[in-house]
Amino acid sequence: MSIIVNGSAGELPDDPRVSLLDYLREHSGLHGTKKGCDQGACRACTVLADGERILACLALAVQYEGRSVTTIEGLTEAGSLHPLQRAFIASDGFQCGYCTPGQICSAVGMAREVSRGVPSYVTGDLSAETVRLGRDELRERMSGNLCRCGAYNGVVAAIADTYAPGTNAMEAAE
Ligand code: FES
Ligand code: FES
Repeated sequence: MSIIVNGSAGELPDDPRVSLLDYLREHSGLHGTKKGCDQGACRACTVLADGERILACLALAVQYEGRSVTTIEGLTEAGSLHPLQRAFIASDGFQCGYCTPGQICSAVGMAREVSRGVPSYVTGDLSAETVRLGRDELRERMSGNLCRCGAYNGVVAAIADTYAPGTNAMEAAE
């Protein structure tokens, strides 16, 4: 049984009880994905599975046999930071940084959901084919990613600068 992590195939553990989060951190040495609550409440463990954001602490590694998982380490391209990583630095989108890998992976997945027209709780027109990533949409879609340092203004500004350049970042961060 194998799984593809950041483009490389790896062997899944024999023990089917191993979570995807523990597989990434303990078996694959990818410590960028963080363990916060380990029970689905903080989203520090967010990774991308075939482009969809998931909580690695609530997933079993064996569930992702043959699937492609991307962690924060896999977002860089040819040694360069992902544009959203650069925006987090420019916008002071972190303090201790513990939630940051989850924030960034979640935002990458969130942007794909918006581009596909997937509605959120605050989307007004559920029949619309396109969704504008305005202030309320951004805040609602990222609301589950908790930051104990309270760096939310910078987080929102970084995401707005990257995925909603027409949105005033300060307005989005209010
Ligand atoms: S560690 Fe997975 S949601 Fe908190
Ligand atoms: S930057 Fe410290 S928890 Fe978010």
